[in-house]
Amino acid sequence: MKGVNGKAIDGSKKKWRVLVTRRIPRAGLERLEPDCDYRVLAETGVPAQADVVRAAAGVDGIISLLTERIDAAVMDAAPGLKVVANYAVGFDNIDLDEAARRGVVVTNTPGVLTETTADFAWALILAAARRVIEGDDEVRAGRWRTWEPEGLLGVDIHGAVLGVVGFGRIGQAVARRGEGFGMRVIFHDPGRPGSIPLEELLRTADIISLHVPLTPSTRHLIDAPRLKLCKPTAVLVNTSRGGVIDQDALAEALVSGTIFAAGLDVFETEPLPPTHPLARLKNVVLAPHIASASRATRDRMAVMAAENLLAVLRGETPPNPVVGGSAGGSRNDAD
Ligand code: DGY
Repeated sequence: MKGVNGKAIDGSKKKWRVLVTRRIPRAGLERLEPDCDYRVLAETGVPAQADVVRAAAGVDGIISLLTERIDAAVMDAAPGLKVVANYAVGFDNIDLDEAARRGVVVTNTPGVLTETTADFAWALILAAARRVIEGDDEVRAGRWRTWEPEGLLGVDIHGAVLGVVGFGRIGQAVARRGEGFGMRVIFHDPGRPGSIPLEELLRTADIISLHVPLTPSTRHLIDAPRLKLCKPTAVLVNTSRGGVIDQDALAEALVSGTIFAAGLDVFETEPLPPTHPLARLKNVVLAPHIASASRATRDRMAVMAAENLLAVLRGETPPNPVVGGSAGGSRNDAD
């Protein structure tokens, strides 16, 4: 039974009501336990949007995943909502304007996944440029007959030009790894000293790695005309958001040889339907949005999301605000 000043009549402390849209690692849930009555909506898989709306009724805070849309309907269901703590560095799944209008604080999980994501961007770069998956397929299928002077030829990475689009934390971490390969690094990130025009980057780079948040201005940043600017030997890698590339145009570019290969961890629609043209091409390496998926990093993201949520509920400034809560982070800094 609830009394005044957050104390129940029996003297016990009132707990905040929190919706966790899908199960996150234990490390984060443990942080919530002392102060929150939380409900994990979906133990596995993605909850239906209508269920998210229903489950949001009356909550003080939400920990959301990038698979759930946190929009006006969800916020309407929770008039006392104070915080949406996204378990991701990206936050294109949240209607930020709607949150700002209602004074709901939005937070994300930057920094903790930078190096893990950069490692994975490199896994895609190496696999796509050196045709690792095709080679694996040949060996497993018994198609490997002999050492071939011109079998499975790829493109060199050492000494090549690495073009980084979006030079925030992750872009810079990818660039540092490129220096270890003896690469020349160029980048496009308007407003940052040293940034070059995107078109120049696309014409010059051998390896292109994308690290921009998905916003109206970055949707289909890489489209058919821009793909045509790339070298036929170029390798394009995307670990940011699928919508940054016009996926149909990319499939065509890979078929026609406009570029050499691609490595994709993110897609315009996730999961990518296995019938999509991209899934039929050999010169693309596909991954199911796992760039941040290491045990340690996913645990750190869970703790960070929980700490952001708790800070707001306690009336403190959260460590990683995107909207409200004295947001220091920029809406364009989702990496
Ligand atoms: C993010 O955090 O935005 C990634 O896409 C998943 O870790």
